Amino acid sequence: MKVCLQTYGCQMNKLDSALVSSALTDAGFSLTQSVKEADVILINTCSVREHAEQRVISQLGHLKHIKKNKPNLVVAVIGCMAQRLGNKLLEHEAVNIVCGPTQIPQIADLLKQALEKNEKRLAVTEKILQKTSESQNQTLETFESTYGVEDKQIPSQAFVRAMRGCNNFCTYCIVPYVRGPEVCRPPEVIIEQIKKLASEGIKQVTLLGQTVNSYKYKKDGRSWCLADLLDAAAGVEGIEWLRFVTSYPSEEFFDDIMQVMAASPKVCNYLHLPAQSGSDKILRAMNRHYTAAWYLELLDKARAIVPDIAIAGDFIVGFPGETEEDFQATVDLLKKARYRNSFIFKYSPRPGTTADKKLQDTVPADIKQKRIATLLEVQEEMSGQLSRDYLGKQVKVLVEGLSKKSHINTAGDNNPQLVGRTDTDYIVVFNGPASLTGHFAKVKITKTSPLTLFAELL
Ligand code: SAH
Ligand code: SF4
Ligand code: F3S
Repeated sequence: MKVCLQTYGCQMNKLDSALVSSALTDAGFSLTQSVKEADVILINTCSVREHAEQRVISQLGHLKHIKKNKPNLVVAVIGCMAQRLGNKLLEHEAVNIVCGPTQIPQIADLLKQALEKNEKRLAVTEKILQKTSESQNQTLETFESTYGVEDKQIPSQAFVRAMRGCNNFCTYCIVPYVRGPEVCRPPEVIIEQIKKLASEGIKQVTLLGQTVNSYKYKKDGRSWCLADLLDAAAGVEGIEWLRFVTSYPSEEFFDDIMQVMAASPKVCNYLHLPAQSGSDKILRAMNRHYTAAWYLELLDKARAIVPDIAIAGDFIVGFPGETEEDFQATVDLLKKARYRNSFIFKYSPRPGTTADKKLQDTVPADIKQKRIATLLEVQEEMSGQLSRDYLGKQVKVLVEGLSKKSHINTAGDNNPQLVGRTDTDYIVVFNGPASLTGHFAKVKITKTSPLTLFAELL
């Protein structure tokens, strides 16, 4: 039986998809990229913005047509949308299975049942906001540590979950309602997993959590924070680079984490620290527990400890009640923050969140669009400036594979164009043998653009 797995959403979902594909292979399924060949279409979904959901709904419309000629095709929707919409999604003509993020250990069984009998099946967590039960945690832990998590797309890189869920309840955000409360995984389990990955040739591990910098775990009278976890992971032979995403602006453990970054050559000098807005009024309405000035001080602190740190941010424009003045405060913060890059989104009301229940989506679509364009322009200028500092420098990159324009050759040889990343997460393209994929290479930067560095192999 062939499964075509499609993934939307964040790294959490990519990791879940890697686990699911590994579990399905173990259960005797094979994976295919082709919808035509597939017996099962498995869609791992995201609910963070309406647009992400719409893409899935239109994909389901397409599958409904395919099923007219192929009635035995099984369509399973997993992930955050499955948890959010549950039965409503199951009512869709094309859908056979709806399975939430906490039910993925059941996926192979659910698919087998659906392939045998043409029944619809729902598997989601009913009271998702309640503390995750011990047995559910155990099931997820067993699933997570049984299956391989090496990223199939990028050789020698892997994601490892440090924590599940989120307790923050930023007023715009759906994540706590679809991923449930925060649960930190035991440090020894995480380290064991990293050791296993290293023995399989993994060189870079990215620790994942919605607020990964708040990781904490108490065991045998010892407290672990993310800094301890990074320190222990850096001790694993074979692991050369460590990253962690995403961080929440908070003082707790911040110095410790920055200290490990400064001290350990293995911990990449990269910090993803979303600000969301530069207006204190909007930050308060978002339930973000900081002010713009305090946030900028935190960046100063990071740069004081790790001088060449690259910082990335996230912003939401057009949050309810965002005036021109509030928006200018965001522009101002963006200019001062000196981000290497930012991810900028239009506010999208998410059903069930506090912002959606209590606040009107007042900012018109065209104003949101204009504000996005303004921020992107400011960011591009900053990114351009920062990347120019790399001109003429020699840097180490971890090679990810062929670039999207692999036919381009500027080196005068027969090598394809490759793409890699610096420890500061800059994308670097250069010509080199494809066999460098999954390995480190030394390159010299010959040209820069805001988001891409161009280089020659040394
Ligand atoms: N846990 C991470 C990221 C969560 S979602 C964090 O707290 O930083 C990734 C990004 O999507 C967020 O940083 C935010 O900028 C954006 N986002 C989340 N909910 C959104 C919404 N309702 N509308 C628009 N953007 C949203
Ligand atoms: Fe969402 Fe806020 Fe949690 Fe991030 S910290 S996942 S934005 S609720
Ligand atoms: Fe989307 Fe779920 Fe991630 S809502 S951003 S896939 S945690």
